[in-house]
Amino acid sequence: MEQQEVKKVIFSGIQPSGDLTIGNYLGALKNWVKLQGEYDCYYCIVDLHAITVKQIPKDLRRRTFEVLAIYIAAGIDPEKNTLFIQSHVPAHSELAWNLNCNTYMGELSRMTQYKDKSKRYGNNIAAGLFNYPALMAADILLYQADLVPVGADQKQHLELTRDLAERFNNAYSPTFKIPEPYIPKAGAKIMDLQDPTKKMSKSSDNPNSYILIMDTPDVIRKKISRAVTDSIGIVKYSDEQLGVKNLMTILNVITGKTFDEIEKYYQGKGYAEFKKDVGDAIINELEPIQKKVKELLDDKKSLEEIYKKGAEKANYVANKTLRKVQKKIGFIPIK
Ligand code: TRP
Repeated sequence: MEQQEVKKVIFSGIQPSGDLTIGNYLGALKNWVKLQGEYDCYYCIVDLHAITVKQIPKDLRRRTFEVLAIYIAAGIDPEKNTLFIQSHVPAHSELAWNLNCNTYMGELSRMTQYKDKSKRYGNNIAAGLFNYPALMAADILLYQADLVPVGADQKQHLELTRDLAERFNNAYSPTFKIPEPYIPKAGAKIMDLQDPTKKMSKSSDNPNSYILIMDTPDVIRKKISRAVTDSIGIVKYSDEQLGVKNLMTILNVITGKTFDEIEKYYQGKGYAEFKKDVGDAIINELEPIQKKVKELLDDKKSLEEIYKKGAEKANYVANKTLRKVQKKIGFIPIK
């Protein structure tokens, strides 16, 4: 009989804290799709993370559904993967509390994302924003994940996750798998269209700095035509021309054309034509996804079934890890 190989576990998540951008799609979702055959993937909508900053309830609800629909429309098969909503699995909050009790203030203070975000919120920084990396660690450790696909901005949180896992394993006995970051080979980091030194972010204050997955063709064309370039006027993949480089990256991940091919093709042509083609490529890529998202959102019942099934599987696996942890730290189980 053929021996069933145990697949490695992957965990990743996106916050429903803003509408998703093509950065989320090209940088994360497109890669997640590629992993689904080879790995046992848990793709979560991390709503507990989203409330570390203020959320309007009806928007949070709408976006949570929308992120799930986008996962599926992007090609993540709910039959092959576990798709679920974080707050449906109470073990995340429970393990996060435990990890918080074993995380040092100093460690959390060093997180650069916290330092950046707390600058934005001035005097109203929620304790949850500070503690958030312990929750992220809980997400990952509950599923004994081997690999975590994340962008460079999350690597520090993953390092902390590894430290916390080792700390627990050493203090008690081996309990958690130590996860590795998974940086995809063709990792596309899409930058802010107005400031290409920064990563494209759904929480930017300037809508011209990002393209949303659900943006209409008109809006996409406008935003691309307004994207910051330079006065050099040559389509070239270079660190001297970060705006152009970013648009080339977008074209490259969507069309598969190499940077060389793109440079040659646009020789002697201006940015206007180049930008028009980038806009068209995005519009074509997003069109079928947008259509599918709308269909799915019109059929809430089927989305509900999907997240319910996902929650059942996730709860089962997560609770197994949580029970072990509780037993080891001396909590008394209900007989
Ligand atoms: N912190 C991640 C972000 O803001 C989202 C996230 C939460 C996550 N939990 C996770 C990513 C676990 C990977 C694994 O992008």
